[in-house]
Amino acid sequence: MARRPLIAGNWKMNLGRQDAGDLASTLAAGPLPTEVDAAVFPPALWLAGVADLLSDSRIETGAQNCSEYPRGALTGELAADQIAEIASLVIVGHSERRQRLGETDEVVRAKLDAALRAGLTPILCVGETLEIRQQPDAYVPFVIRQVESALSHRPAREVASVIIAYEPIWAIGTGVAATPDDAQEMCAAIRAAVDQLAAGAGEEIRILYGGSVNPGNARALLTQPDVDGALVGGASLVADDFRAVITAAAGAI
Ligand code: PGA
Repeated sequence: MARRPLIAGNWKMNLGRQDAGDLASTLAAGPLPTEVDAAVFPPALWLAGVADLLSDSRIETGAQNCSEYPRGALTGELAADQIAEIASLVIVGHSERRQRLGETDEVVRAKLDAALRAGLTPILCVGETLEIRQQPDAYVPFVIRQVESALSHRPAREVASVIIAYEPIWAIGTGVAATPDDAQEMCAAIRAAVDQLAAGAGEEIRILYGGSVNPGNARALLTQPDVDGALVGGASLVADDFRAVITAAAGAI
């Protein structure tokens, strides 16, 4: 079965309550091509409100992070099963958290485990720094190690249900997206590695590209055979731009 494209909007630590509600309402009011899945990831404070506003639309909601620990005495954290009461997805291991908040591969793996236990669909983010990208033999193995570290212990059926987002760190928020060929090269390598881990899962798993995706470059990226969608930051904060990326995904099928 063909993989359904997914366009995911990561709002990061942006938008006040009113703006988040307005954006969600605008997105809910617009048409969405039936052949594309879409999701938004608001700041946790606005997650419940945004989920309510989108409840009659086909746009799903997700959290930007979850705790690796079960519910309990852990000030300031959000347990995966709490998120699951409101949302269906969760981003795990975004590079901003890995780099700026010290999330290691071990932590990311534990968060992915917690998300799956709670019935959430994790979007596992992986990607290399510019320094690693500049070493021709290093960048693919680096990213594959991140994928293996997060998924190697899970059964095949669960591996296939995870979504992976390849987000080169040098492309995030820089306006310099990876070329379609670079995105394809890495997404194909990730798919092959997933299939090694869990036979058959490679064909099924959805792999997104993220990093400076916008209405202008989306189509070229999304027509690549191993790019199944996009994780969009900046451009997801503007309803028309986010919709244009969704439309590009529909046109790229
Ligand atoms: P960007 O962010 O589209 O603003 O580059 C992507 C991301 O970090 O998910």
